[in-house]
Amino acid sequence: MTIRHLLPAAVLVIGVVAAPAADPPKLPPPAAGKVGFDADVKPVLAAQCFKCHGPDKQKGGLRLDSRAAALEGGNSGPAFVPGKSSDSKLIHAAVGTDPDLKMPPTGPALSAEQVGKLRAWIDQGADYGTTASGGVSPPRCARPTGRSSRSSGRLCRRDSTRSTTSSAPG
Ligand code: HEC
Repeated sequence: MTIRHLLPAAVLVIGVVAAPAADPPKLPPPAAGKVGFDADVKPVLAAQCFKCHGPDKQKGGLRLDSRAAALEGGNSGPAFVPGKSSDSKLIHAAVGTDPDLKMPPTGPALSAEQVGKLRAWIDQGADYGTTASGGVSPPRCARPTGRSSRSSGRLCRRDSTRSTTSSAPG
């Protein structure tokens, strides 16, 4: 047996592996290491998801900017299962495993790296960090400085540094 006999077999194997399959895309693996909501997850969700699943709009009945809302989920149930990213709708939607639910619906899809971070975050419990709503729309935000830029709406501080834990309800 010479290399010339092996080559066709090798080509065949590579061809089969690389052939564009009709199968749905596979989930990228979870990112290694600890993933933080503020550093790794929020930027992705804020850029790609919150405009339709945030404080202003809840497409499909789903809001993703708070853990409670995401767990309550949308019209078809919870967005994710903490600890089980592979069972989480959010991940499948972002990867597009179901052709009927590809998120975001238009524009560039999430990269494998971004999905990997979301997976690791869900696998690690889907912690939304220090602020109750992930810092997206704090229920109350008193600005210590007197500079009231824009309207005094709820988005008075978009860039949440882990700060106020002092405001007790009531
Ligand atoms: C341009 C608006 C838009 C953006 C951006 C968007 N979505 Fe959606 N999303 C929708 C609409 C509309 C639906 C309902 C469509 C449907 O059920 O087929 C939906 C439904 C969903 C659902 C299913 C909700 C349910 O329970 O039925 C999930 C999960 C989801 N989106 C996740 C995401 C994630 C994750 C992102 C960001 C990566 C995202 N979406 C970005 C518009 C958007």
